[in-house]
Amino acid sequence: MSATHILLKNASQLITLAGDNHRPRTGKDMSELGIIEHGDVWISHNQITAVGKDDRSPHEADIVIDCTGKVVMPGFVDPHTHLVFAGSRENELEMKLKGHTYMEILAAGGGILSTVGKTREASKEQLINEATQRLNTMLKFGTTTVEAKSGYGLEPATELKMLEVAKELNSQHPIDIVSTFLGAHAVPGEYKSRNKEYIDSMIAMLPEIAANRLAWFCDVFCEKGAFSLEESKAILTAAKEEGLRPKIHADEIENLGGSSLAAQLNAISAEHLAVTSEEDMKAMAQAGVVGVLLPGTPYSLMMEYANARKFIDMGVPVALATDLNPNCWTESMQFIISLACYQMKMTPAEAIVASTINAAHAIDRAGEIGSIEIGKKADIIILDVPNYQHIPYHFGVNHVETVIKDGVIVKGAE
Ligand code: NIG
Ligand code: FE
Repeated sequence: MSATHILLKNASQLITLAGDNHRPRTGKDMSELGIIEHGDVWISHNQITAVGKDDRSPHEADIVIDCTGKVVMPGFVDPHTHLVFAGSRENELEMKLKGHTYMEILAAGGGILSTVGKTREASKEQLINEATQRLNTMLKFGTTTVEAKSGYGLEPATELKMLEVAKELNSQHPIDIVSTFLGAHAVPGEYKSRNKEYIDSMIAMLPEIAANRLAWFCDVFCEKGAFSLEESKAILTAAKEEGLRPKIHADEIENLGGSSLAAQLNAISAEHLAVTSEEDMKAMAQAGVVGVLLPGTPYSLMMEYANARKFIDMGVPVALATDLNPNCWTESMQFIISLACYQMKMTPAEAIVASTINAAHAIDRAGEIGSIEIGKKADIIILDVPNYQHIPYHFGVNHVETVIKDGVIVKGAE
């Protein structure tokens, strides 16, 4: 439903996350939610125009939503997803339960490579349809911006197809989609043991991707069995020269030095980070690299979680994301927030900062989204909970009642 002026009235907790938007939150600031009790928000067109109390009479609003007893907060930002893919891999759950590791399944042609086969075969229309279903679920669960990586093509034509699909989805779906080029997700079968040639073919794609704004960031899966530290450095350095800021899948299973490389290259983020060392954390903190933690992945792999407490203590800005992909299939940031608290010992306040303003920093969008402040985009959710602690505490359900995206009510309050 669209309206020119919307008033969200009397939220029991209005979680503004207002503050310095120039850098991501670290340490104690990760607990600052900027809560206003009995707070109002005015929205005009697609922007937030007043926060807290305002002199205007409710009669000036086209729509008034009574938020008594509810939490109002910024829409979730999901800064690490593999949104566009074909098919599914439920067969791997039983393999994992029998003790086969993620990298064993990949080495046998399963995992990422099995999704590559299906994604190469899929038409753009099929990819759009499948991803739209996931986006619809994400929106219902309160996510208003997602990052989306390519990486199931592993050949120029299909990598471009994925990036074009993401661009198309961005224009036709309410959710904003920020693309990342992940041509170096795995070495495809036809390039087996010819990593250098494969990497060169991906580096050759960078100018076209950058020129056509098909991606903002470039990512690499830096892992034994995927890409080495040197290979990762070569790709990310070339990307940087083309104006694509580096991101990196680092320290998911083994520590090859990927997170320190992120610091060295001034990457915007390093992601996964289950086995990151204290030295790496120090380097990340100094360089201001956002640590994007993905607790859904160790949940689905039945492995160790990242040491979130240590990251926060060391001054690394922490963000959270779903890592939505066929190995770890969840659209719900609420589930991720719950895992972050119960499994990684983040506090509910830290997990909310990590899913909103710090997540926005991880994709370089903190100037527009991630908090409820005058001038920011009206991406706001209303949750049917009395306080924010309920979000992780009462898990496995969807607390989001209303979603306002770009000033338009896209779910609820009809
Ligand atoms: O971030 N680990 C590497 N890439 C993805 C998973 C991709 C897949 O298994 O399809 C991740 O977890
Ligand atoms: Fe990933």
